[in-house]
Amino acid sequence: NSYRVAILGATGAVGAELIELLESRNFPVVELKLLASPRSAGTSLTFRGETLPVEAVSETSFDHVDIVLASAGGATSKLWASKIVAAGAVMIDNSSAFRMNPDVPLVVPEVNPEALNHHKGIIANPNCTTILMTVAVWPLYQVQPIRRMVVATYQSASGAGARAMEEVKQQTLAILQGETPKTEIFPYPLAFNLFPHNTPINELGYCEEEMKMINETRKIFGVSDLMISATCVRVPVLRAHSEAVNLEFEQPLSVEKARHILSTAPGVELVDDPKANYFPMPIDASGRDPVLVGRIRQDLSHPCGLELWLCGDQIRKGAALNAVQIAELLVEKQLLGLRR
Ligand code: A2P
Repeated sequence: NSYRVAILGATGAVGAELIELLESRNFPVVELKLLASPRSAGTSLTFRGETLPVEAVSETSFDHVDIVLASAGGATSKLWASKIVAAGAVMIDNSSAFRMNPDVPLVVPEVNPEALNHHKGIIANPNCTTILMTVAVWPLYQVQPIRRMVVATYQSASGAGARAMEEVKQQTLAILQGETPKTEIFPYPLAFNLFPHNTPINELGYCEEEMKMINETRKIFGVSDLMISATCVRVPVLRAHSEAVNLEFEQPLSVEKARHILSTAPGVELVDDPKANYFPMPIDASGRDPVLVGRIRQDLSHPCGLELWLCGDQIRKGAALNAVQIAELLVEKQLLGLRR
């Protein structure tokens, strides 16, 4: 079988990676539609050596499409979701629009592939920091249940899109030339700086990104009362996120055992060389598929605690790769083609 695929948001940072992954992973695509805003109509992109036009998304865009990979923001996803489902296509949505909807599976293929089985046409791709953390923590959780997780993130510019990445480069150039950096996407200069994640703060003092990590991890793990706290920070890195994670297990889990589990865990690469002081870095995670995990050590403040550090490509596993893996699972499990 071969599928008609549409990418909604094809001209964005995640869109570019989706096109590359469909090609490099040999996803069975019979026809690829590239959709974006009217601003991009008339431009073109390359897929398997072929130049394809970018079209402005419209009422007829999803006719005869089997899978829509959407990465054009929550408002665009909300606007088109019902039309996509009505057209008989399955939408894999990278936005946060439907993630906490009980009818929408929220899936990390290494963690909860079974959640796909009863999908109703929309599948949500989790938040990028959540995906990276769950890939690293789930294999440990399965061996020894976790009572409490505390995470601090160091998030790259790519999470705010292609224009945000360009903004950081321009700010860096401006500062090096002694000029005042301009801000447009981000509220403050990110070059040579960092700031707590710039999403709205709720009544408890947590920003939206932090609440996504908490609520989405609970939904993906299927543990509604899992204790999690998060501090999300934007750092001047282009495309890989890092996270410091503290885990409190029900019973002690040794560093050796955790290392062993993670050395064979799907989607994880153990990068943990204390002698060389070599651990995961965004520069090594960028452009690569696995979540790099290291600095696994005993929490000196708690007998059941472990500390670990991870890095993962925000655009790949944090977004596009996870979405394409979901599409691959839908094919494998024969969960596509509701129309027929
Ligand atoms: P466009 O390039 O035409 O603006 P990023 O997250 O890297 O900023 O990318 C956002 C993606 O979402 C781009 O492909 C962008 O297209 C697309 N997009 C933004 N707004 C809309 C919209 N209203 N309708 C369709 N696509 C949109």
